[in-house]
Amino acid sequence: MNKNIVILISGGGSNMAAIVQAAQKGHWRERFGAQVAAVISNKAEAGGLAWAREHHIPTASFDHKAYPSREDFDAALMEEIDRFAPVLVVLAGFMRILTPGFVAHYEGRLINIHPSLLPAFAGLQTHQRAIDAGCRFAGCTVHRVTAELDHGEYLDQAVVPVMPGDTAQTLAARVLTQEHLIYPRVVERLVATA
Ligand code: GRF
Repeated sequence: MNKNIVILISGGGSNMAAIVQAAQKGHWRERFGAQVAAVISNKAEAGGLAWAREHHIPTASFDHKAYPSREDFDAALMEEIDRFAPVLVVLAGFMRILTPGFVAHYEGRLINIHPSLLPAFAGLQTHQRAIDAGCRFAGCTVHRVTAELDHGEYLDQAVVPVMPGDTAQTLAARVLTQEHLIYPRVVERLVATA
């Protein structure tokens, strides 16, 4: 039995790397028959793709600008993802809004990490907005993906303090360390029971 995980990224892929490393350290293959089967990006130059290749994980990239519509892009993406028949599709810094058709196709097996304590600060620039609002705490949320942006059942959250003098960058770095802890934990829980 092969429980494939497909991870979608757009950038550095540090969450993706955290999940791959957790899978190795936690022996997910032996324990659950689970593996990160592919890493797919909408940007060919995404740093995370090179990392994945170095770790012998199949990669693919689809330039969204090459497709006439969002639906066409999502259809190409779905075709590639479905080659791996994944039990879980993990959005890890994937900076594209997906079509309702895509979301419906992967219903129940599509998750995302968002760098705020949802339902606060859905959308972009979460760290600056938390600082501007005078928040004493910030954090991150792993949630199921539904058609509405940054909504869907919350699977885990982590909290960090906002420190005096924080910039969006220093706060983002503090939140990211927690993302790397909770995202692999949620993925492990889901593949264990998939
Ligand atoms: C993370 O903060 C994630 O929550 C956000 O984009 C960032 C991606 O970082 N959506 P990385 O590519 O996993 O390093």
